[in-house]
This record gives sequence, C-alpha cells and structure tokens, in this order.
Amino acid sequence: MTIKIILTSIVLSILSSSFSFQQKQKFSLKESIERGKDIYIANCLTCHMDQGEGADGFYPPLAKSDYLMADKKRSIQQVLYGATGEIKVNGYDYSEPMVGFDLTDEQVSDVLNYVRNSFGNKGSAITPEEAKAARKK
Ligand code: HEC
Repeated sequence: MTIKIILTSIVLSILSSSFSFQQKQKFSLKESIERGKDIYIANCLTCHMDQGEGADGFYPPLAKSDYLMADKKRSIQQVLYGATGEIKVNGYDYSEPMVGFDLTDEQVSDVLNYVRNSFGNKGSAITPEEAKAARKK
C-alpha cells in the first residue's frame, strides 16, 4: 500500500515536471527571430533596408533605434497600425507616414523579435500574448 502511494507520487511528480518543462519550451525566442527574418524581408526591408539603416530623413533606422527599443507596446502598435506624425529616432526627426500591416499576433511578435535582435540590437522577447494585448479594441 505505502509503496503504491510512493510510486504514484513519483510518477505524478515526473509528469508534472515534464509538463511545466513543455510549457516553458512553448515560446522560443530563437525560433521566433528566425521566422521574423522572412517577415521582415517581405514587409519591411524596402524602407528600413537590409541592415536596418533606413533612409536618411525618410525612413528611420531600426539599427540601434532608441525609439524601437524603448517601448514594446508602442512598437507592436507601430507595426499593426502604422503611424503618422513626427517622431524622433536617435536624435533625428522623421515625419513620413508608415502603413500598418495585417499580421497575426505571432507574426507581429516574430518580426519585432527579429528587429529587436538584429542590426546590433539586443532586446527581450515579445510574445504573441503581448502582441494580442497591445491590439486596439
Ligand atoms: C513604406 C515604408 C515603410 C515600410 C514598408 C515599413 N516602415 Fe516602419 N517606418 C516607416 C516610416 C516612414 C516611419 C516613421 C513614421 C513616423 O514618422 O511616424 C517608420 C517607423 C517605424 C518604427 C519606429 C521608429 C524606429 O525606427 O524605431 C518601427 C519600429 C518600424 N517602423 C518598424 C517597421 C516594421 C517591423 C516593418 C515591417 C513589418 C515596417 N516598419 C515597414 C516606413 C516604413
């Protein structure tokens, strides 16, 4: 009887630890960055360029962009809804409008994880849940 209880609890603890392991593995920043690269090439590269350098006076840089790295929610909304109006990036003003993109929560997180971790940038992950939460209701 006692042995049975001990065995059951061992099995249960193994099951629950492998379960929580799977939970943690669900979102991989590395894989998200890899997927994001293709999304960047397809949607963003024309303006923000190969090395995220942008185009002087027109398209702001993503490389070492203080504006991009400062605010996750704002960057999610930037990609989903675009932006008009003047912004300052690394000390320079930009006022061309940017269109919004019809992307899924996962695609938004992927492309932002790519730009936040390329061109010399290093940023924490943006999950699909954060992208979802930042959508305007
Ligand atoms: C047609 C050109 C164009 C495309 C395509 C484009 N952008 Fe932009 N982007 C701009 C412009 C112009 C601004 C500045 C907007 C403003 O002044 O309000 C901007 C601003 C930004 C910013 C904030 C400023 C900065 O440099 O940190 C981010 C982040 C950004 N874009 C990311 C993206 C991503 C990601 C994509 C692809 C999904 C994308 N953009 C596609 C033109 C573009």
